[in-house]
Amino acid sequence: MGSKYALLPVLHDVFSSVAPVSADDPEGEGGAVRPATAIDAFSGSGVVSYLMKAEGRRVVSNDFLAFPAVIARASVVNGSTTLSDDLVDEICGPPADDRDIVRRTFDGVFFSADDRAFLDSAWSHVDRLDGAERDLAIAGLVLAAARKQPRGVFTFTGARYDDGRRDLRMTMAEQFRAAVQAYGATVFDDGLAHEAVEGDVADLRRPPADLVYLDPPYAPPRDDADYMKRYHFLQGLAVYWRGQTIMTETKTKKIVKLFTPFAYPRTVDDALVRTFEQFADAGALVLSYSSNAVPSRERIEQLMRTVKPHVEVRVVDHTYSFGTHRTATRTAATEYVFVGRD
Ligand SMILES: C[S@@+](CC[C@H](N)C(=O)[O-])C[C@H]1O[C@@H](n2cnc3c(N)ncnc32)[C@H](O)[C@@H]1O
Repeated sequence: MGSKYALLPVLHDVFSSVAPVSADDPEGEGGAVRPATAIDAFSGSGVVSYLMKAEGRRVVSNDFLAFPAVIARASVVNGSTTLSDDLVDEICGPPADDRDIVRRTFDGVFFSADDRAFLDSAWSHVDRLDGAERDLAIAGLVLAAARKQPRGVFTFTGARYDDGRRDLRMTMAEQFRAAVQAYGATVFDDGLAHEAVEGDVADLRRPPADLVYLDPPYAPPRDDADYMKRYHFLQGLAVYWRGQTIMTETKTKKIVKLFTPFAYPRTVDDALVRTFEQFADAGALVLSYSSNAVPSRERIEQLMRTVKPHVEVRVVDHTYSFGTHRTATRTAATEYVFVGRD
């Protein structure tokens, strides 16, 4: 999901330099040591929120899609719960009811009949859970489906990009077991009250944080960056399509997209300015952006300087791979990390 996984060492370095977590943090009002705070405003896969937590910060994780919020609740907010083997066996066992949204809607669209049936059946158990157990189970289903789908995106049907890699050969149930184990291994308790919010960044109002990280969609010069088109299946699966409008006439049975001004060349400049102003009080403002997108590096520096006079840019060369190993095209792009300070 355009995950920043590969960039985490760079981000860790940047975060440490702008807002270090140290023993002599400013005193809070009650005289207690105040934890360092961070906002991950476009959290996606949640890996950056998790980095912030691992660095000892109190984290607010935000995204306007449902599945990033579930992942952040399971892996960042949750400090103690994991799924027992018995519960995982039950979820992977016979269905608790005869629900069939996945089988009915996605027959011939995504996955094998067995894998589709597993998702319906697993949800029949997940619906009886609540709290962190429910979040972990849903996060596990989302990760399993992402791994089972060639290239991890849901813009095409069938197995066109199936290269026989292990992820695709494992069944959905096996993927689910592996995923809940992986999420379970991330859980640790630091005693801090983290938050996961599902909402538009424009509505996120929080007291000034030491560090605000912005990783919006990158607006391509032509076209738009539509996250719903790529990840609609994960969005639907995270809520079992409740409250989501499926466009039944589309080939991939996608969900109606959520407008975001960051996705379009026409509206992105204004959206960036408004977001910079919204978080102008942050100790440091960090933005990831790509050289393949608009606006340009120079323009972004200029816009960020309107709220943070000192802007530094780290340049990271990055190679994206598309397709299978035989047909892969490698696209070189430069990833910028803008760091704004007072
Ligand atoms: C580039 S991805 C973030 C990737 C993330 N940093 C990671 O490492 O996985 C951009 C994210 O912004 C979210 N998004 C787009 N527009 C938004 C908006 N207006 N408010 C909140 N989230 C938005 C998308 O759902 C998507 O998850």
